[in-house]
Amino acid sequence: MANASVTAAACANIAFIKYWGNRPGGLNLPLNPSISMTLSGCVSTTTVTLGTSGAPDRVELGGAPAEPAAFVRATRFLDHVRRAAGRAESAQVASSNSFPTGCGIASSASGFAALAAAAAGAYGLGADPRELSRLARLGSGSAARSLYGGFVELRPGSRHEESFAEPIAPESAWPDLRDVVLILSEAEKKVSSAEGHRFAETSEMFAGRLAAIPERAARVRRAILDRDLTALGEASEADALSMHAVMMTSNPPLFYWSPRTLAAMEAVRAMRHRGLEAYFTIDAGPNVHVLTRARDLVAVQEALRAALDAPMLCCSPGPGAQRRETAP
Ligand code: DP6
Repeated sequence: MANASVTAAACANIAFIKYWGNRPGGLNLPLNPSISMTLSGCVSTTTVTLGTSGAPDRVELGGAPAEPAAFVRATRFLDHVRRAAGRAESAQVASSNSFPTGCGIASSASGFAALAAAAAGAYGLGADPRELSRLARLGSGSAARSLYGGFVELRPGSRHEESFAEPIAPESAWPDLRDVVLILSEAEKKVSSAEGHRFAETSEMFAGRLAAIPERAARVRRAILDRDLTALGEASEADALSMHAVMMTSNPPLFYWSPRTLAAMEAVRAMRHRGLEAYFTIDAGPNVHVLTRARDLVAVQEALRAALDAPMLCCSPGPGAQRRETAP
């Protein structure tokens, strides 16, 4: 359907078992399985409209032309879509986020999931979820997970066909799980995840991390199905610490934490000590995600406010990507 405009929306996600380290070759093929929860309310909405063949792509983020690095990343992704579809038309992309960038929620996951769904629609690719997930992975590894709602696992692989995400359970499986995002810094990270993945294997701790993941991932899958916050939280903290140990011991070493990150981890531990169940997880940045139950949300937010005085965002398990087509 040439010149159709297709719009898709997708939510960000937070990983309990982190994806860190990939194979060389630029296909974002992870070296380990990762497991995440799709985050309600943190939505990227992206419209793709096809233009004439050979014309340059146009990419707008939040109403303004994309910065050069983001533009290149988007057009490379569109090249993958065009190759898969056997089409040559240029694309006009307009994307916006419902959440502030730099808030510790990866906009690349929701952004590339929405772009994959919208571009696949515009260029006439099918809507097979596995295929869309593989496609989104080419833009950003974690985006492969954002195609699905609820709780999702991304398979590692050594070939493009092998690595895609699959649902573990829908959002309705654990509706009262909460992720409180503590925004400790809005500064852009110095080393992007895309770059950081390349250094993972230089850490002497990486082999140990890979060896520990199958058992930890099994615990997380079981915890999701059993709605067991204690098991989920303990495994998520262990996995985040293992990933950051790899980051800190890679060459070059990557330090994403700030003193306030440590203070937040300490505050979460102190809450548990007082009988308030909460657990932290941290991506490639200083901001801290705190997992808890809906009934403890107010108490957890109060404790975090008292310890850190930082803005917070609260998310529940969210839905998968959705798209709608509009006539040319
Ligand atoms: C630490 O390569 O998906 O968040 O560079 O933003 O595309 P982008 O990130 P990506 O790596 C994600 C790394 C992580 C862990 C995770 O989400 O699994």
